[in-house]
Amino acid sequence: MKAFEVYQYLEGETATERDLLEMHSKFWNKGKWDNFVAPFLPEDPKGMTLVDMGCNAGLFLKLAEEKGFDHVIGVDANEEAVRRGLAWRDKNGGKYKIICSSMEKCIDDLPMADFTVFANVHYYFTINDWLDYLDKLQTKTGYCIVVTGYKKHKNVCWASADISDIRSYFKNWDEVGFIDELPTDGDPSPRRLWALCFKSRFIDKIPTNSLVTRNPNLDGFYEELDKGIPYKNTQYYNHVKSYRKKWSEGRLNRWTEERIRVFEDVKKNGLLKPIIIHSDSVILDGNHRYGVIKYLGEKDIFVRRVGSNTTETKIKLNLGCGQHKLAGFDNLDKITGWFFQNGLTQYANGSVDAITISHALMFLELSEVKKFMKEIQRVLKVGGVIRITEDDTENPLSDTYQTGWKQNYPKEWGRDASCLTGPKMMREMLESVQFGVYDVDENTTHFQDKTLMQSYHRGKPRCFFIEGVKR
Ligand SMILES: C[S@@+](CC[C@H](N)C(=O)[O-])C[C@H]1O[C@@H](n2cnc3c(N)ncnc32)[C@H](O)[C@@H]1O
Repeated sequence: MKAFEVYQYLEGETATERDLLEMHSKFWNKGKWDNFVAPFLPEDPKGMTLVDMGCNAGLFLKLAEEKGFDHVIGVDANEEAVRRGLAWRDKNGGKYKIICSSMEKCIDDLPMADFTVFANVHYYFTINDWLDYLDKLQTKTGYCIVVTGYKKHKNVCWASADISDIRSYFKNWDEVGFIDELPTDGDPSPRRLWALCFKSRFIDKIPTNSLVTRNPNLDGFYEELDKGIPYKNTQYYNHVKSYRKKWSEGRLNRWTEERIRVFEDVKKNGLLKPIIIHSDSVILDGNHRYGVIKYLGEKDIFVRRVGSNTTETKIKLNLGCGQHKLAGFDNLDKITGWFFQNGLTQYANGSVDAITISHALMFLELSEVKKFMKEIQRVLKVGGVIRITEDDTENPLSDTYQTGWKQNYPKEWGRDASCLTGPKMMREMLESVQFGVYDVDENTTHFQDKTLMQSYHRGKPRCFFIEGVKR
């Protein structure tokens, strides 16, 4: 195993022979980031926070900052790696933070993150610490990315590196992405790596101005404080004084000073916990922290919903369903009066959890498929999955190779089967709208359950199965 002090090579440092191989590999340093972490990240992470656990010398922190994350924090227990990392950051003018701490100890002090990364790191937790950590992480991060490797020797008291065990640790999360091991041929420093991305079911990030506060008088308080106005002269203090008539001045002052501490803390450390809201978006706890976030101009805010309507039903669409309707889905088809060419205007942006389409896109012109991809991109939630099952006209072993179903198309259906579907063509379509794209088969899916799977027209090589995950 490589010593942690020198695990990451930092440009400008003297390179060892091993570094010279690893710097051109898909599996180490920037190669690992590009192939196993970055594919799960959004195009534009402005306003977002990324935490890298076991960040070593902070190479990924620099790459996250370059990608556009506004807040980037790493944690590592190796003092020498952190010392190198801080010196390198300062030399390069980075803004990110590196905290020298054991991972087990620091979760309570870390800000809420959009993404938390464990790259070849989670298996350094004892299983007990790891499970405790994950319990807390559910309300601390929107997404968790785990890069894992092949471990010859298993030790029962540590968190496991196996994919099936990792999936079991995250069984209360939604798996929204998976990267299978990459071919090693020609790589100067090959190894077996996999990556998984999970979405928390406990928290959401929503527009700050969509919350309803019961404390509107806070507006202006933080601005007055930042202008240096003594708190006893602020409008808010005098407003509270006017209705807390039974409070002594000492009590009012202590209460206000505590609120000012919250202000300073959120300014410095961000939100450490989500704002608790009712399903109707009224803030139940966290009005002051919400006020600070609003004052700081943060567009979105982390919330945890409670209340009777929180187990909202998932919206799943089965498009071009024909006679194959699926329970729990909105089943749309021309036989029910809906056409792909109509789009999905009845669904709001980011409102749909999943879409399945089987043997229906083949009846569209290529330009219509292209246009419809934009509609899918619009209605799916981030992390939402589109599963496509069509004839594989690209596979010489398929009976529709290069012809499609054209030759058998019933005249009375009014138009020809139009486009030649296949995994390559469909991948391009999905990638054109920035989905994470995964070749799957009849039995595998990136959705949290098996409900999107359809294989009425048999499996490979006749058909292909592909999924896109909205990033
Ligand atoms: C295999 S390296 C991976 C480094 C980096 N994530 C990457 O992929 O390039 C594992 C890192 O985890 C750190 N680490 C291991 N156990 C730790 C713990 N309990 N707390 C904090 N850091 C730890 C090590 O110091 C080391 O930097």
